[in-house]
Amino acid sequence: MPKHDIKVCMGSSCFARGNLNNLNFLENYIKNNNLNVEIDLIGAHCENQCENGPHIYVDNRAYDEVDETKLQKILEDLK
Ligand code: FES
Repeated sequence: MPKHDIKVCMGSSCFARGNLNNLNFLENYIKNNNLNVEIDLIGAHCENQCENGPHIYVDNRAYDEVDETKLQKILEDLK
């Protein structure tokens, strides 16, 4: 089974800009969809890129201004 690492920036700016919501969305999506991939979900520290946050990193690729629509697309591409 392919394995992916998803890191969610838990710095205060990304958190306030939507990563709390994004984290909840991710957890529910992984729980409710039968993904044929293994996902390691971890928190990340602020990487000083706050102005275009919230940030999510998938296999070390950075995504800016992440919201639920973007997240859903990212997750569907992993399937
Ligand atoms: S809080 Fe996420 S990059 Fe700074």
